[in-house]
Amino acid sequence: MNITLANLPAPDAESLEVSRRLVELIRSEIAGCGGQISFARYMELALYAPGLGYYSAGARKFGASGDFVTAPEISPLFARCVARQCAQVLRELGGGDMLEAGAGSGALACDALQELERMDCLPRHYFILELSAELRARQRALIEQRVPHLAPRVQWLDALPPAGFRGVMFANELLDAMPVHRFRIEESGASELYVTWQDTGFAWRAAKPGSAELEQRIAALDLAPGFAGEISLSARAWIKSVAELLEAGLILLVDYGFPRRELYHPQRSQGTLLCHYRHRAHGDPFLYPGLQDITAHVDFTAVAGAAHEAGMRVAGYATQANFLLSCGLAEMAADTVDTRTRVLAAQQVRRLTLPDEMGEVFKAIALTRGLDAPLLGFAFKDDRARLSSRLLP
Ligand SMILES: C[S@@+](CC[C@H](N)C(=O)[O-])C[C@H]1O[C@@H](n2cnc3c(N)ncnc32)[C@H](O)[C@@H]1O
Repeated sequence: MNITLANLPAPDAESLEVSRRLVELIRSEIAGCGGQISFARYMELALYAPGLGYYSAGARKFGASGDFVTAPEISPLFARCVARQCAQVLRELGGGDMLEAGAGSGALACDALQELERMDCLPRHYFILELSAELRARQRALIEQRVPHLAPRVQWLDALPPAGFRGVMFANELLDAMPVHRFRIEESGASELYVTWQDTGFAWRAAKPGSAELEQRIAALDLAPGFAGEISLSARAWIKSVAELLEAGLILLVDYGFPRRELYHPQRSQGTLLCHYRHRAHGDPFLYPGLQDITAHVDFTAVAGAAHEAGMRVAGYATQANFLLSCGLAEMAADTVDTRTRVLAAQQVRRLTLPDEMGEVFKAIALTRGLDAPLLGFAFKDDRARLSSRLLP
């Protein structure tokens, strides 16, 4: 269905006012920048402008009453599997810290801490790195309500931790929420797609790529005229900076995306930009700025490349289904006493693992430093070869 304002549920007056103020902010930045800004900057403001962006203002976001559902909101089994993988690494290191980046509602932190406590393998600290002040407050309230005795271990960081981190860094659906540049291949070469203001709304404008790095990265993809897509320079930079801080341990990332060769495949020749508004997915990032999520699929080859550059090893890459099943998802789901809970858990397992649900498009990637043992989550199947080392930058 072609999504337009007319067939989306209307926001309330208060939300519309937040969106109007955000539009004014972005318009004035466009005017101040000579009439255009990169799409990456538009996305950054639409999602994270203090007090106005999608993640920074009060929108419900996650869950049935929000705009989309993430794995930790579907089932605590997801966090319990992640916790088991973390426990293996914390044990091998003889203890350490955990850091979760982009912790959403805080549900994963609660469920993972409970599982780690059951396994007698709690991290010294559970750090949370979260850009949104509104989400930080929500996370704090949920942790204090659900696991008050573990709350003193949880600390929110204002910036990346200092170098020398030992332990596990984890993020679910973080990279897909990072700003992307948009481009299109013309007969004459690559153009970047900028955001401008035209008459009554935002519009695209094609022009020369805004940086030599972007130009080189697009050229390296070797795409045919007509192909349009996205590149996230921020995701690559983020991986490099956290990797450099990790003295020993694991960076575990779960997100939707593909190895580079599959992401920039003719099947996806118009890119993977996707917006979520009240459980409707569509491709127009200019609808209701600030009231909808904007995402793009992750290039896992770029993630692996950035980790390599920072001296880390890619220790595993698998579909979400294979990762969770390797961590014991099926056994955990079956291990319940009453039938109702077991039926519910079986439904959750299906949503997390079936190929036409979250099982295949979501992937887990493990980046390690100073670890020897094969990782639990990649025991069933490890698809590292699909990242295509030939393409690693
Ligand atoms: C799609 S949500 C996923 C939330 C949660 N992990 C889940 O699975 O439900 C993306 C989250 O990443 C946060 N975020 C985005 N960029 C970030 C960054 N550079 N550092 C820390 N958090 C970030 C957002 O504020 C939000 O909490």
